[in-house]
This record gives sequence, structure tokens and C-alpha cells, in this order.
Amino acid sequence: MANICVIGTGYVGLSCGACLNSIGHDVVCVDIDHSKVDLLNSSCIPILEEGLKEIVQRGLATKSLSFTTNLRQGVESADFIFLCLATPQSTNGSADLSILMSAVESISDLVKPGSIVVTKSTVPIGTFIEIERVLNRTDVSVTSNPEFVREGSAVHDFLHPDRIVIGSHSEEISRRVAGLYTTIDAPILITDPASAEAIKHASNSFLAVKLSYINAIAMMCELYGADVLDVAKGIGLDHRIGNGFLNPGPGWGGSCFPKDTSALLYMANTKEYEFGILREAIAVNDEIQNRIIEKISYSVGGSIHDKKIAVWGLTFKANTDDIRDSASIEIITRLLNLGAQIYCYDPVVSEIPALISQAHLAGSAEDACDGAELMVVLTEWPQFVLVKPSQIAAKMNSLNVIDCRNILDRERWIEAGFSHQGLGR
Ligand code: UGA
Repeated sequence: MANICVIGTGYVGLSCGACLNSIGHDVVCVDIDHSKVDLLNSSCIPILEEGLKEIVQRGLATKSLSFTTNLRQGVESADFIFLCLATPQSTNGSADLSILMSAVESISDLVKPGSIVVTKSTVPIGTFIEIERVLNRTDVSVTSNPEFVREGSAVHDFLHPDRIVIGSHSEEISRRVAGLYTTIDAPILITDPASAEAIKHASNSFLAVKLSYINAIAMMCELYGADVLDVAKGIGLDHRIGNGFLNPGPGWGGSCFPKDTSALLYMANTKEYEFGILREAIAVNDEIQNRIIEKISYSVGGSIHDKKIAVWGLTFKANTDDIRDSASIEIITRLLNLGAQIYCYDPVVSEIPALISQAHLAGSAEDACDGAELMVVLTEWPQFVLVKPSQIAAKMNSLNVIDCRNILDRERWIEAGFSHQGLGR
């Protein structure tokens, strides 16, 4: 059992702290947000994350997990200090490290000799050198231990990872960090810090390239009359390709892929390397949205102006309440700019997001369709699959549906009288 301090209680920090506690460590999570800390100390979880509430409650009850705004209290007796702070995108595309570095500066005088600072945040390759410089403590080690959890399944992913990556220049320090995970059954890859930081970026960008590739194949399927779902199945059966991350969609979004691909591209540019494949993957991600806007325009007769359009789904993917960099919000914004009247529904969104304040939020998937010319599915919530097409047919003005996640049963919707379009089929 180790004494751990986790700095930052966002999506990564909160799940990381709670999971480290659930595998037997004493964990103090520190955040500057007083109201969030109060909420967490009373077992209220501010994000939608399966299984998180249960482990937080258990940790609080046994007093082995706590939340505080007092940095000194969290850090001074910790053997390990996990940095889980946001590294948002700057205007020039690079990762903004100011939040992370200001935390490093603040702990510099507080951490005890012999302790280990562990970076979980996604940082540019080489950031560990800057962390060591700002920390300015020869008696404290800096390690990279990037996180690979997905929002919505963070607890499961943390406890059942494909691999654990630890980057340090010292074998002894790597062994101590690896020792935190002895109860987790996963291969542990020990490497140097720059390679660990690169693994995180290379993984996220590889996945983004894979998604853009399948989205480009979806466009080809539409042009040549093939079905992308069968194509994805067919290529995914080749174990060298694998069947994960092959669902075409309205573009990858969320708090990670857009900013991380942009940060990696920026890193390449600063060394004058033209990372064309990554640049193209980002371009395809915009292109798929142009294609969706074209499909919408065509479905409503050529002009979007004043057309009433129902949208199902606002979050960047299902099973999360996160709308940051959501393809749905992006597409709605473009439709609003073209003069559409948008009625949207999302099972976990209870207020219209400020970015799309001219849109209307309906109380149900059915209500969003009232009087609409077209219904567009943008997030793959499983509850949408259960909606009866006949009920929607009774509500809509024109029976048009565009399913950008290919989740609806096409035959049932066609049987109910709909003109149904998927993506890439
Ligand atoms: C992603 C990575 O998957 C995690 O491994 C990583 O730890 C995390 O970023 C991070 O860097 O913190 P996340 O952003 O939670 O996780 O979401 P994903 O499940 O990866 O989905 C990303 C986007 O791709 C979403 O917009 C999703 O709708 C889209 N997607 C995903 C598809 O369009 N099709 C798919 O088949 C899979």
C-alpha cells in the first residue's frame, strides 16, 4: 500500500484516484475547485462514469480516499504524486502546459524527499525535462505513466488495461511505480520518459487515423454502392487490422483526439517534419462533416434555411455526458448558421449548451421529431435503437432519417415509410 496524492479531479484524475484507491492505496485527491471537492466528499460524482460512484463511496467510507483543496495536506506525506491536470489546445495548436507547470511549481517545496512525481496527463514528448527543471528537486524523481482510459468506461479500462507504460531513466523508480499496479493483470512496458510520452501520442493519433480511414472508406462506399458495415467487418477480421475503432461516424471528437492530434502535428512542425498522414486524418475529420451537411441539405430539398430538423444526440459519444469537441455540437452549429430550426434530444443533457443556444432541447427523442422535415442521429445512444419508427412517423412532417452512426435497424425504418440514409451504405 502506498500513500498517493492525485492532483486534478477531472475525468482522468478522478477515475485514476478512485481506481488507485480501489486497488489498495491510500489516496488524497487535490483540486482547486472548492464546490467540486465538497461534492466529491459527499459522494456526489459530477461526471457520468460507470462504476465510479461505487468505488468513491467505498473509499470515502473506509477513509482511504479523500478530497481536498489543500495542496500541502495532499502532497506532503505522499510517496507518489500523480499529475492529472488538463493540457488544453492553445490557439497555435500546441498543448498549453501552463496549468500543469503551475501545479509542478506549487508542489516543488512541498513534496517529501524520495517521492516520485508521476505524469498521467497527455503531454508533448520531452515534457518530463521541463517538469524536472520546474520541480528543481534532485531528491525527487519524475516519471511518465500515461493513461489510456476512455471516458464512459474509465473504471473498467483502468482496472483491465491492455498495457501499463512507465517511462523513467531509473530502473529502481520504474520498479516502484510498477509496484503500484501489482494487483492488475496487464503487461508492463518500462521505457524512457520520452518514449512513454510518445506512446500516448502515437496511440491516440493512430486511433484517430484509423477512424478517419474508415470514414474515408465510408465515403468511397457511398460513391460505389458498397456497405461500409460489411467492409469494416471484412477488414476487421484480419487480425493485423483488428475490428476495434472501425465504426464510421460524424467525426471523432471529445477532449482528447482533436487536441492530441493537433499537438502531435505541432510537435512535428517544430522539428520541420511534415506529418502528412496525420494532417490528412484531421482534414478527413472535417470533410466527413461537410458530407453530412450536404446529405442534410439534399434531404430537405436543397435549402436548410427555416427547415425544422430533429437531432438525436449531443455528447461526443454515448455513455458520457461530455460535449467537449462533440461532432454533434459542431454540425448543429453549422446547421444553425444556415438558418435551420434545430430540435435536439440527448438522454444525459438537460440544458441547451451555450454553443448552440439558438437550438431547442426536447424532452424526448419522440418530441424532438414533432413536425420535423428530417431526423439526424449523431450520437450512438443505445436507447435510440429502441424507439419505434412508427411512433416517429406519426410525428414528422416528412419521413426522412439520416443515421450518422448506423445504429438504427434500416429495414424497420424503411418498412415504417422512411427514406433512410446511413453513413457509407
Ligand atoms: C480516447 C482514447 O480512446 C483513450 O485510449 C485515451 O486514454 C483518451 O482518448 C485520452 O487521451 O484521455 P475518449 O476520448 O474517451 O478516449 O473516446 P473514444 O472512445 O476513444 O472516442 C473518441 C471519438 O472517436 C469519439 O468521438 C467517438 O464517437 C469516435 N469513434 C470511436 C468513432 O467514431 N468510431 C469508433 O469506432 C470509435
